[in-house]
Amino acid sequence: MANLSDSKKFYVTTPIYYVTAKPHLGSLYSTVLADVVSRWNKLKGKKTFFVTGTDEHGQKVANAAEKAGKQPKEFVDSFIDAYKSVFKSFEIENDHFIRTTDPYHEKAVQQWLKMLIDKGDIYKGFYEGHYCTQCELFIKEKSQENEEKTVLCPDCGRETEIVSEECYFFRLSKYQDKLLKFYEENPDFIAPKERLKEVINFVKSGLKDLSISRTKITWGIPFPGDDKHVAYVWADALNNYITAIGYGQEGKKESFEFWWPADLHIMAKDILRFHAIYWPAFLMASELLLPKRMLVHGWITVDKRKMSKSFGNVVDPVELEKLYGPEPVRYYLVRQMAITQDGDFSIEDLEQRISSDLANDLGNLLNRMVTLAYKNDAKVVKAPKIWSESELELRGECLNMISDFQTYMADYQFHMALSSLWKFINKVNAYFHAKEPWKLAKTDRDAFLQVLSATGHSLRTIAILLWPIMPKKMELLLNSLGVKFELEKDLIQELSLGKWDETFMLQKIDMLFVKPEQKEKKMDTEKEKPVLEKEKKDYIKIDDFAKVHLVVGTIEQAENVEKSNKLIKLQVNCGEFGKKQIFAGVKKFYKPEELVGKQGIFVVNLKPRKIMGMESQGMMLFAEGDDGKLQMATVSASVPNGMRLR
Ligand code: MSP
Repeated sequence: MANLSDSKKFYVTTPIYYVTAKPHLGSLYSTVLADVVSRWNKLKGKKTFFVTGTDEHGQKVANAAEKAGKQPKEFVDSFIDAYKSVFKSFEIENDHFIRTTDPYHEKAVQQWLKMLIDKGDIYKGFYEGHYCTQCELFIKEKSQENEEKTVLCPDCGRETEIVSEECYFFRLSKYQDKLLKFYEENPDFIAPKERLKEVINFVKSGLKDLSISRTKITWGIPFPGDDKHVAYVWADALNNYITAIGYGQEGKKESFEFWWPADLHIMAKDILRFHAIYWPAFLMASELLLPKRMLVHGWITVDKRKMSKSFGNVVDPVELEKLYGPEPVRYYLVRQMAITQDGDFSIEDLEQRISSDLANDLGNLLNRMVTLAYKNDAKVVKAPKIWSESELELRGECLNMISDFQTYMADYQFHMALSSLWKFINKVNAYFHAKEPWKLAKTDRDAFLQVLSATGHSLRTIAILLWPIMPKKMELLLNSLGVKFELEKDLIQELSLGKWDETFMLQKIDMLFVKPEQKEKKMDTEKEKPVLEKEKKDYIKIDDFAKVHLVVGTIEQAENVEKSNKLIKLQVNCGEFGKKQIFAGVKKFYKPEELVGKQGIFVVNLKPRKIMGMESQGMMLFAEGDDGKLQMATVSASVPNGMRLR
């Protein structure tokens, strides 16, 4: 393997997933993020290696297998295809899928244990204390107790069990000072930075040696020379990051030395301690370099609770993929979740992102431009020799956005990167609209072609930057522009030069993104729409609906709220429900005088609330049109005020 400088290669990993069930949206999330990071580095012309896989040993898996009445190996085998096919259907391009039951991994872990025993960093002792099977965690610190005086896990809050067994210990305490020194010298080790403080505090509070074997279970890697013991599941699993690239395997030394140390380990916040304390200490003991960085993300929650099989609130990614396609779901995950925080999953938000961001802002822009070009016989669009002022301005905006996008990506703030990209998409839309190219086509051909070219260059930039998130769709977009997409060179650097000298050979394609409501219409005639677990739960009973008082009312007065750029204050006659003062956020779409005298639909039993110091006594209903404009809901013929909608 040729020697590449560190800046030319990138090794990224996901946690390996416990196989107690098929994957859910939470397990997909880390994998999508890793795929985005890997593809982003490909765009930068780097050689990448991306590993994901499954964590198959330990008490948690053994218990689940027993419950299912299966042998552990048979049990874990039954889920592997589901993992691989979900990842494939979401266009995850991992270079390797590791299973901790793979013989090469088991052998390498045994060698590693032996090496540490010989070195004196592993010794035999006795463990007496609490254990959380759910987290596979030995509990050392003082922990909470419930009313029955059962010790609760400090991480997940579940009841723990008492373990009292002979075991091998790893001399974690020996590495306390070395670890603290490492954190001090590497303040960027963890993204986001704040999480490093938690780790430092934990280490400073004192590290005890870590139990590293179990005798109460047999489902694990046998300890070398003492097969009464099996390796503690975390000591087994963390090593996947090195065994996946060849550690401890004959003929794989070169590969291992090429890829190690990893550039990025990605994980959720609940397993940071294992990665930021145990794993570096294991590596120090093994005299190996430490990974360069860790990215810690929040949880996907449902109804504010971590999505997890044991809470029974999982969303099935297969159903989402069937309903919305893989790439809109990838986009939603990366855009909607602020990486540092937990984010509640919602179908409404997902559909909103698809309709508004993808179909309206992006898909329509491409469609409008290509349709207009075809109509005016301008399928081949060359860059002008000299750009005019407004196009130079747009290019300037584009270059600023590329720079912001890179800064956010370097810190793995994906949602911020996308937010700055979308601001630019909206600027391109505004530019296209303001230029009125459909008029220029008739009056000034050069100016018309220049608008097409500037829009084309903007779209090319957008498509390349979005490729890590929506690869196939963005390749389609680039096809429609008739430009090449090759990963050999550093495309980000090329974009940053802002050359804007492409010739576009425009081609019509189907709409890039279909709005969910249009898709549903199509699906009605096919087979029944699959129902998500979450949606099933969201059904309401007729009694629930009856609680909402929806009535017809006439707007008698309407005036703009001065200090607000959204609100209009309405005085509404709701018949027997009385006169109501209601605020509507539609200043952008309606003039007050357009509303006066109209009949609308109002919710009249909402708890009154203060808006800008004034009481709002209900809500007026609007629907968003195709063009993003809010349209007031109304009745088709005049009815008396106060009539209920049922
Ligand atoms: N097997 C260990 C990891 C060993 S890595 C050497 C483990 N497995 S897990 O299946 O319980 O969780 C693995 C990872 O799945 C989490 O760190 C996280 O990255 C991802 N997620 C699982 N549930 C999730 C959510 N609800 N939300 C976001 N990520 C989630 O821990």
